[in-house]
Amino acid sequence: MMEGKKILIGITGSIAAYKIPLMVRRIKKMGAQVKIIMTPDARDFVTPLTLSVLSENPVLTKAFNEETGEWVSHVELGLWADLMLIAPASANTIARMANGIADNLLLTTYLSAKCSVLFAPAMDLDMFRHPVTKENIGKLEKKGDILIEAREGELASGLCGEGRMEEPEKIVEILSDHLKKKELLKGKKVMVSAGPTYEAIDPVRFIGNHSSGLMGYEIARSAAQLGAEVYLISGPTHLSIQHPKVYPVKVTSAEEMYHACLEVFPDCDAAVMAAAVADYTPEQIADKKIKKASGMQQIKLRKTRDILKELGKRKTNAQKLIGFALETDKELENARQKLENKNLDLIVLNSLKDKGAGFGTDTNKISILSKKGNVKEFSLKSKKQVAADIVDELVALMKS
Ligand code: CTP
Repeated sequence: MMEGKKILIGITGSIAAYKIPLMVRRIKKMGAQVKIIMTPDARDFVTPLTLSVLSENPVLTKAFNEETGEWVSHVELGLWADLMLIAPASANTIARMANGIADNLLLTTYLSAKCSVLFAPAMDLDMFRHPVTKENIGKLEKKGDILIEAREGELASGLCGEGRMEEPEKIVEILSDHLKKKELLKGKKVMVSAGPTYEAIDPVRFIGNHSSGLMGYEIARSAAQLGAEVYLISGPTHLSIQHPKVYPVKVTSAEEMYHACLEVFPDCDAAVMAAAVADYTPEQIADKKIKKASGMQQIKLRKTRDILKELGKRKTNAQKLIGFALETDKELENARQKLENKNLDLIVLNSLKDKGAGFGTDTNKISILSKKGNVKEFSLKSKKQVAADIVDELVALMKS
């Protein structure tokens, strides 16, 4: 999968940098082009000359090429790459990446890169365990960068513990898998609905629910990481997403979500409907704040339109449709019914009986039911991992 790919490697000041030349050789042998940027500190650990010979390209550290004296455009470097790998990624560089500090060529290139960025931390045990480092790594992952987990083992300090850079052979394998995966949904358009809807009662009050939107946002990110263009129809949430292939469409009410979904769906190859859409909405919205003194005791509600059901009616044979079912009892039976009634290809079942599943948690436990009657059960995982499982099922569905 490396053949013809353009890999940009950023090397920072860490003893693990000595392992990079052999890794570069391996990547080159697999047919990829390699360009290398080093931070000034990295040059104390490994020589630019070695890396330049192995990569067959000048090694860059400054905004001008020291050999030719030409200006090096970080924007062009970022656009050139199919993938950027930062390895070893020191605590210092990770902190700068997480906070948008751009005081060397590696960092300016990182900030302008449009491709996926993978980073392999390497540092001493205590630095790795420090809450600030953990927070910075979390920030990068949230932004969509891919962490290559550090391993436990002997460290340069003589201590033994977590913080050792992943072995280069494994890093190359991860890069290759990533490039392979990145193309699985290339050229496909996927719509994802996420979050709650708010149904206005008057200008200050609404009927809503506890959905955070996290499940839908992670599905959107995961599909985009596999190369899809994603239209994320989102109800009100505190979440935001920055990915060049995710196009967010913000809505508030079930009615707005209905119209947005119906407009976007005809152009899509698939939809995953993770939103917690209100089933009922006030029949009338008061145009002024309802005063206590008015003595109002009842709000008359009417049914909202079932967006997923409508999409099920409209979908073509080529389009795939995945829905969710949040149940508290007779879970499988109810989910199966929804799958049939709404003409879905797959339904993702959450049971509120399972601890850690459903709303307001960072974890979820799902089962996926197919039209053919198969039931796949998954263990309790982070919503990010659950999203990857759902998107893997979508990929399989689209191949079938
Ligand atoms: N859904 C939708 N539009 C609605 C209601 C639900 O698109 N107005 C979608 C949800 O996004 C989800 C699926 O339908 O993918 C099932 O939602 P759920 O609330 O579990 O089921 P309902 O059909 O609303 O049935 P009930 O509330 O009676 O369980």
